[in-house]
Amino acid sequence: MERRHGKGVGMWTRSGHDVIVIGSGAAGLTAALALAEKLRVLVIAKGSLTGGSTAWAQGGIAAVLDAGDTFDDHIRDTMVAGAGLNRLETVEHVIARAPHAIDRLVALGVPFNTEAGALHLTREGGHSHRRIVHVDDATGWAVQSALLEAASANPNITLLPGRAAIDLITGRHEEKYSGSGRVWGVYALDEASGRVEAHTARATVLATGGAGRVYQFSTAPRGATGDGIAMAWRAGARVANMEMMQFHPTCLYNLEVKNFLITEAVRGEGGRLINPRTGKRFMEFYDERLELAPRDVVARAIDAEIKRFGLDYVHLDISHMDADFVRTHFPTINEKLLSLGIDMTKEPIPVVPAQHYTCGGVMIDLHGHTDLPGLYAVGECTESGLHGANRLASNSLLECFVFGEAAAADILARWHEFIEPPTVRAWDESRVTDSDEEVVIKQNWTEIRRFMWNYVGIVRTTKRLERAKHRIKLLTDEIDEYYAHFRVGTDLIELRNLLATAELIVRCALKRKESRGLHYTLDYPETLAEAKDTVLVP
Ligand code: FAD
Ligand code: SIN
Repeated sequence: MERRHGKGVGMWTRSGHDVIVIGSGAAGLTAALALAEKLRVLVIAKGSLTGGSTAWAQGGIAAVLDAGDTFDDHIRDTMVAGAGLNRLETVEHVIARAPHAIDRLVALGVPFNTEAGALHLTREGGHSHRRIVHVDDATGWAVQSALLEAASANPNITLLPGRAAIDLITGRHEEKYSGSGRVWGVYALDEASGRVEAHTARATVLATGGAGRVYQFSTAPRGATGDGIAMAWRAGARVANMEMMQFHPTCLYNLEVKNFLITEAVRGEGGRLINPRTGKRFMEFYDERLELAPRDVVARAIDAEIKRFGLDYVHLDISHMDADFVRTHFPTINEKLLSLGIDMTKEPIPVVPAQHYTCGGVMIDLHGHTDLPGLYAVGECTESGLHGANRLASNSLLECFVFGEAAAADILARWHEFIEPPTVRAWDESRVTDSDEEVVIKQNWTEIRRFMWNYVGIVRTTKRLERAKHRIKLLTDEIDEYYAHFRVGTDLIELRNLLATAELIVRCALKRKESRGLHYTLDYPETLAEAKDTVLVP
C-alpha cells in the first residue's frame, strides 16, 4: 500500500491554507469558525457539505438552563448513563461549557423553540431534568444550516465538498523521509475527477464523525464509515473503547425506510413502549425508570422482548397525548410517518433498535490533541472521556461544540510552534489499474455489515466475537490485495475503513472481560469494580 505514495514530488499538492479541517459537521465547522478569526482554513468533506450525522439530529442539545437544574445533576446523569467509564474531568469540562455553546448557536441564528420568552426544554432518557434545547424535532438541520451559512460567509474559510480523505500525510510521506509521526495534512480523492490530491497545512483537525454504517441497521447516514478513526489508527494514534457502540432503542421498523429515527423525546414527552403481542407496557419488567431509562437499558429490553416473543418490532405509542401537542412537537416525524400511512396521533409506531452512535474513537485530551503532533480530533470520531460506556442523549452535539472550540483555541494559542509543512510526495497511481470487479466491493460491504450485526450486536458472546474476528481476517487479506491493485474510489476507501473499524470494535470487545454499559456479553455478565478504558495501541 505504501507504494501509492512513492513517485512524483508535489504534483497534485494543494496548499495555501494554515489549517485543514476534515469534515463539515457540527465539530468541523465549529472548529473552522473559531480558527478563521485569525487563520486561513480549508474544510474538506466527502460528498455534500451536509452529508454527516449533524444534519440528521432530531432531539436536541443538552445544557443546564432550567432554574431547578444544576451542573452536578447533569454530570451525575452523564456518569450514570456512561456506567462510570467516563473521565470526570472531561464531563465537568464539557457540561460547564454547555450554556456558552448554546449562546453561541443562538448568536449564529439557530431558531431554538421558546416558551414564555425562554428556551423550551424537552426531556430524554437518562436525564433527571428537562434540559434539551431543540428546534422542533429537526435540531440538527437547523444547526448544520446556521454553521454552514456562517462558514460560507467567512472569507478565511474555503469549503471543499466532494473530497474523500484517504490517508493522513505524515513524516513517512515527506520528500526527504523523516519517519516522524508529525501530521502535515491529508491525501484526498477529488470525487468528480478521480484525482488524488495532497492537501498540506501546519495543523490538521479530524472531524469525520462516527462508524455507524459498520452495522446492517443504523440510524447514521451512508458516509458514517469510520474513515477518520481508521486513518488516525493507520497513522499511529491510539484508539479506545470501540466496543461501546450505541444502539438507539427506537428506529422506525419499515421494510422500505430502513434508518429513520423516532426521537427519544417522544418517550420524554410521554411515549410508551408496548409489546404488540400482549398489548402491555413492558419496561416495568426491566427498569424502574421505565421508558426513560438510559438507552442501553431500553435497547436491551426491546431486544429481549423481540427475542422472547419472536416479534419483528415493538410499539412506541404516544397516541394517548393530545393530537395537536404531538403534531406541534414532532412535525417532521409526523409528516414522515403520514407519508408511510402511520398516524402517530392515533396509532402506535413500530420500532426496533438500530446502531446510532460511536462512543469510542481516537483518543484525545481536553484540547483535542491526539497522540500525533499536528493532528487534532473533535466530535464523534473521538474518545474524549465524555460518554464512557454509553452516551447520555443529546450530549454529542454538545461535545462537538465544546471540543471544536477547544481545539481551535489551542491551535491559536500555540500557533508560533506550528511550522510550514515540507514538500511531500504525490500520490502514485503508476502501478494500479481500473477495477473490472466492482462487485467485490458491494459483496464485502454487505458481508461486514451483516456479520457485525449478528455477531457483534446488542448482546455478545466470546464465540460470536471470535467468529467475527475470523471473518475480518479473511476479508482483510482480500481487501488489502484489491486496494493495492486498483484505482481508489469513494466506495473502496469506505470499505477499507469499514473493515478497519470493524476490527477495532471486535478487538476492543474481546479485551473487555465484563459487561458494562453498551458492552453486554453473556460470557462475562458482571461489571468489574474498577472501570477501565479499552485502549488499543498501534
Ligand atoms: P458528522 O456530523 O457526522 O460530520 C462528519 C463529516 O465528516 C461530514 O462532513 C462527512 O462528509 C465528513 N467525512 C467523513 N469521512 C470523510 C472522509 N473520508 N473525507 C472527507 N470527509 C469525510 N446527537 C445529539 O446530541 N442530539 C441529537 O438529537 C442527536 N440526534 C441524532 C439523530 C440521528 C439520526 C443521528 C444519526 C445522530 C444523532 N445524534 C444526536 C448524534 C450527533 O448527530 C452526532 O454525534 C454529531 O452530529 C456528530 O458530528 P460530527 O461533526 O462529529 O460528525
Ligand atoms: C434522539 O433524538 O433520540 C437522538 C438524541 C441523541 O442521539 O442524542
